[in-house]
Amino acid sequence: MSAVKELLLLLPLVLLALEAPLCYGACVEVDSDTEAVINEGFKLGCIYCKMRGEVDATATVKWSFKGSGDSDFSDLYIYDNARGEIIDPRFYERLDWNGSKNTRDLQDGSIYILNVTYNDTGTYKCEFSRLLKYSNYDYQTAIEKNITINVVARLTRGMASILSEVMMYVSIIGLQFWLLVEMIYCYRKISAAGEEALRESAEEYLAIASESKDNCAGAQVAE
Ligand SMILES: *[C@@H]1O[C@H](CO)[C@@H](O)[C@H](O)[C@H]1NC(C)=O
Ligand SMILES: *[C@@H]1O[C@H](CO)[C@@H](O)[C@H](O)[C@H]1NC(C)=O
Ligand SMILES: *[C@@H]1O[C@H](CO)[C@@H](O)[C@H](O)[C@H]1NC(C)=O
Ligand SMILES: *[C@@H]1O[C@H](CO)[C@@H](O)[C@H](O)[C@H]1NC(C)=O
Repeated sequence: MSAVKELLLLLPLVLLALEAPLCYGACVEVDSDTEAVINEGFKLGCIYCKMRGEVDATATVKWSFKGSGDSDFSDLYIYDNARGEIIDPRFYERLDWNGSKNTRDLQDGSIYILNVTYNDTGTYKCEFSRLLKYSNYDYQTAIEKNITINVVARLTRGMASILSEVMMYVSIIGLQFWLLVEMIYCYRKISAAGEEALRESAEEYLAIASESKDNCAGAQVAE
């Protein structure tokens, strides 16, 4: 019995462990965050999934930046042939590659700003180009993403996030209150039922007692 129970408890873990290798490597094109905090690190996300996993490919990523005072984009960073290069002097020593590592077949082209300043406010453009190598021809694909970054002193949270947290507390407190009411109600009901039973048994006792007294009286009279 307890062995079966243990097995049932372990089953989800086993399934999870089996599934993990399948999920590993799955590519999801998540949008980048757009709010960077001053003096902290920030990851500029840019993911371009390869739909045909079996086809060999190489990819390059180019980032450009248009600061809030700039009129046009200028080259910021290039990642090609498994190495990256910072082109914009404003970002020297402050950028790191956060994308796919040790491969030319990139799917993640994210970069990381080590120490964000207010001057980093602006639009970042990520250009991903991929060369798919079929057996007798090559096929070029490309995407472009614009990410507008706002530098803030502290992370502000979206209204939806705040609202959902408030709703969570409201529902927790509401449920506990309901539970309390239900407990008091049940307690009262049980204790009332208990009193009723006590009263009933007392009455019964009294009835028996008076009956036996009557009997006694009757017996005394008879004597
Ligand atoms: C980031 O830069 C600011 C100002 O240049 C400096 O005061 C701070 O120590 C730096 N933070 C890190 C983690 O390098
Ligand atoms: C991105 O790069 C930074 C700096 O090298 C590092 O601290 C951070 O852990 C990296 N993040 C990921 C997800 O690779
Ligand atoms: C931001 O840009 C202004 C104007 O170009 C410059 O004077 C200032 O030093 C820059 N600040 C940082 C932290 O790089
Ligand atoms: C990114 O911005 C540039 C210039 O503002 C624009 O030409 C381009 O179409 C935008 N790309 C996307 C994917 O929105």
